[in-house]
Amino acid sequence: MKRLSDPKTFQAQAMADRAAGLTTALVPTMGFFHEGHLSLMRWAREHADRVYVSLFVNPTQFGPGEDLDAYPTDQERDARLAEEAGVDVLFTPRHEDVYAADHATWVQVPELAQHLCGASRPVHFRGVATVVSILLNLAQPTCAVFGQKDWQQLAIIQRMVRDLHIPTDIVGRPIVREADGLALSSRNIYLSEAERAQAPGLQQGLKHIAALALAGERDAATLTKALRAFYAEHVPGGEIDYLDLMDPLAISPVQNLTGPTLAAVAVRLGKARLIDNLLLLDRE
Ligand code: PAF
Repeated sequence: MKRLSDPKTFQAQAMADRAAGLTTALVPTMGFFHEGHLSLMRWAREHADRVYVSLFVNPTQFGPGEDLDAYPTDQERDARLAEEAGVDVLFTPRHEDVYAADHATWVQVPELAQHLCGASRPVHFRGVATVVSILLNLAQPTCAVFGQKDWQQLAIIQRMVRDLHIPTDIVGRPIVREADGLALSSRNIYLSEAERAQAPGLQQGLKHIAALALAGERDAATLTKALRAFYAEHVPGGEIDYLDLMDPLAISPVQNLTGPTLAAVAVRLGKARLIDNLLLLDRE
């Protein structure tokens, strides 16, 4: 595995790979790898001739008072895990090489960023869309792979790539979970033992309302009320940031379920802000 930190060198490598007729896959990450990241890398390994992983804790997607400075990192462990997953190039740029001191260009998809995480983290998706377009411009990959845990992020990137005619396929891969259902996240390390014990309740609540929807409940307000009640009982230490039913592509609220509907939640448990989601009526 090559380790590159200079954007121009990375871009030259990517251009040479494409010129040689190879297919390429990019897995953008902020590091501190867990099985969720590794599953994306393994998928990329199976589907492309060359696999690139970027590891960059992107400052522009953190708002004031968020956990940028505390964000967990372990670059040597990450490098070892990436190599074991068959990654060809690990790209670890420095902040100042990604963003010039007078950086002035931003990519935004405001219609899809009004709700869910976009409502509580106002600059977040502007930072994500901007850094992902920078990474896609550097790597010019055949495909780029993202996890569905950040469903809104994936929807925004898919729309951005479509609207800007970026010639990369965006691939969304299923959420990877612990045996008890907690979605893997680098932020799970912030959980105390007591909070960790409640955290699987997030997915259990989503499954509970998925069953209600399957049984015929179509009123979004009734379903969100049921989810709130479930969390009050099973995740009593959780402070709900949002809990919404959305059109999965437009990321806009639905009143009545008429087809596959995204149930998305963000809950604060102590120092951790956990997100999770489930597609209701997925197989209808
Ligand atoms: O999902 C993440 O880890 C980040 O938001 C991403 C896509 C790597 C952009 O910084």
